[in-house]
Amino acid sequence: MMQKINEAVAFIKEQYSNKPAVGIVLGSGLGSFTGEIAVEKEIPYSAIPHFPVSTVEGHSGKLIFGQLGGKNVVAMAGRFHYYEGYDTSAVVFPIRVMKFLGIETLLVSNAAGGTKKDWHVGDLMIIKDHVSFFTPNPLVGKNIDALGPRFPDMSEPYKKALIDKVKAIAAKQNIALREGVYCGVTGPTFETRAEYQLLSLIGGDAVGMSTVQEVIAAVHMGLPVFAMSVITDIGIRDEENTITHDEVLQAAKDAEPKLTYIFKELIAQL
Ligand code: HPA
Repeated sequence: MMQKINEAVAFIKEQYSNKPAVGIVLGSGLGSFTGEIAVEKEIPYSAIPHFPVSTVEGHSGKLIFGQLGGKNVVAMAGRFHYYEGYDTSAVVFPIRVMKFLGIETLLVSNAAGGTKKDWHVGDLMIIKDHVSFFTPNPLVGKNIDALGPRFPDMSEPYKKALIDKVKAIAAKQNIALREGVYCGVTGPTFETRAEYQLLSLIGGDAVGMSTVQEVIAAVHMGLPVFAMSVITDIGIRDEENTITHDEVLQAAKDAEPKLTYIFKELIAQL
């Protein structure tokens, strides 16, 4: 694994020599955020040694390097989901590569289903904690000591200091934010009514098919994380309620300007 990471990092450094300070992972329908970056270099995943290749609709599959909010950033346009058939080490590989490129903070976004009846499509939720039991843990297997400890502490996977900064940014701009617990699931099925109900009962506010494995890998390496969900559907409703991927993408797109503003301001304040 370390050799693969080192080879990917060495290849990228040959293409682009600036050290990024912030890594950004963009969720489904949230890719146009990259329009905010003063792009200096784009590298397609397919060119990078050992990188998996993204297939899902709404993801274009490249690393974007450039300036945003006065910082050097690297954004993943397109992420790797377990439901696509990648094993967990592939899902988290880019996170590990970004860490060894030098990032000091990781920002993550995703589209998620809401499990609370009084929440609305388009709500933005700060992820304050997560439940990852429903997906395989990416650290299963021999521990890679060069990455982090065998038994990482998970008491603050989402950095409180970053959450506080975002709350202040949103308050100043009158952007309403939810704060809640994200439940990671494998997908690709959306949840049944009973499953949304269960997730709500165990303390979940949102559910999605990404993020938790990436965050576990980041925390393992001691990387501070901030993550935000766009609520793209409310699974818990009583009435007739189907969910389509197109609706999820549309809802994410509609909420994107607010999320973009928050990420931009947060990066400027880091
Ligand atoms: N469930 C799981 N993943 C999702 C959902 C959902 O309702 N919406 C967007 N991603």
